[in-house]
Amino acid sequence: MARIIGGVASTHVPSIGKAIAENKQNDPYWRPFFRGFDYVHDWLAREKPNIAVVFYNDHGLNFFLDKLPTFAVGAADQYRNEDEGWGIPVSRAIAGHPALSWHIINGLVADEFDVTMCQDMLIDHAVTIPMALMWPGAAAAKASPAKPWPVRIVPVEINTVQHPLPSLARCLKLGRSVGRAIESYPENLRVMIVGTGGLSHQLDGKRAGFINKEFDRFCLDHVVGEPEVLTRYSIHDWVEQSGAQGVEFLNWMAMRGALTGQVSELHRNYHIPISNTAAATVVYENRKEAERKAA
Ligand code: DHB
Ligand code: FE
Repeated sequence: MARIIGGVASTHVPSIGKAIAENKQNDPYWRPFFRGFDYVHDWLAREKPNIAVVFYNDHGLNFFLDKLPTFAVGAADQYRNEDEGWGIPVSRAIAGHPALSWHIINGLVADEFDVTMCQDMLIDHAVTIPMALMWPGAAAAKASPAKPWPVRIVPVEINTVQHPLPSLARCLKLGRSVGRAIESYPENLRVMIVGTGGLSHQLDGKRAGFINKEFDRFCLDHVVGEPEVLTRYSIHDWVEQSGAQGVEFLNWMAMRGALTGQVSELHRNYHIPISNTAAATVVYENRKEAERKAA
């Protein structure tokens, strides 16, 4: 059976791609952020996931305001990136796992999430930046075919762009449904869950540059053990507390929902700012009841 080993959540700011392309990981501005991935690399090397289910928001590459699904699931053999205009290298394509995607889609629809199904789907910086941070060797533009991505992905897109947005409670439930589907998949897979974006940030308008350290800490402290506390906030409350783009936390809520066992925080790095964003990186462990008893 497929097993959910844990989750990683990460900011997806595009300028990270530029820093990687220019080898700036050790510059004073970037170092505190990139060092936050040392633990992630160790964890990935130890846990060896072969699938990443990635909750993210598209920023206009695959979907635009003319047609924007609230929830969309990729069911493609392969996911390509294209130039989004950020001045960063186009990422290498990432292989999918269509059979697992369809299993997840079936589970979601059975649970009354009427998702958009995408057999062709471009992935934007919200997928490619966290992938490049987690697997820098595989992400490198000149990587040989001998160094493929170590995981195949199932991208799950959540609308955080065009209001009305889904609620925090809805995204937590979406994640739970995805988690149940993964655990009922018969292939022996080691699945990690990824949530991208956040934390507090606002890119435009009167509050451009807005960051709320206290609220970010509150989110990080509660999302692990009591995510329900966060569902008391409406989307409008969230925009007020976390900025117009802080709503990307919906991806974190879905990631947390998909961790179906006993969840604990293994790692947290929080750094202000990266571009306009309060950057956060976390690793969560997901342990089954039976494993806890045996330990
Ligand atoms: C930035 C943050 C984002 O989440 C994004 O999608 C694009 C840019 C930023 O802080 O620059
Ligand atoms: Fe974003």
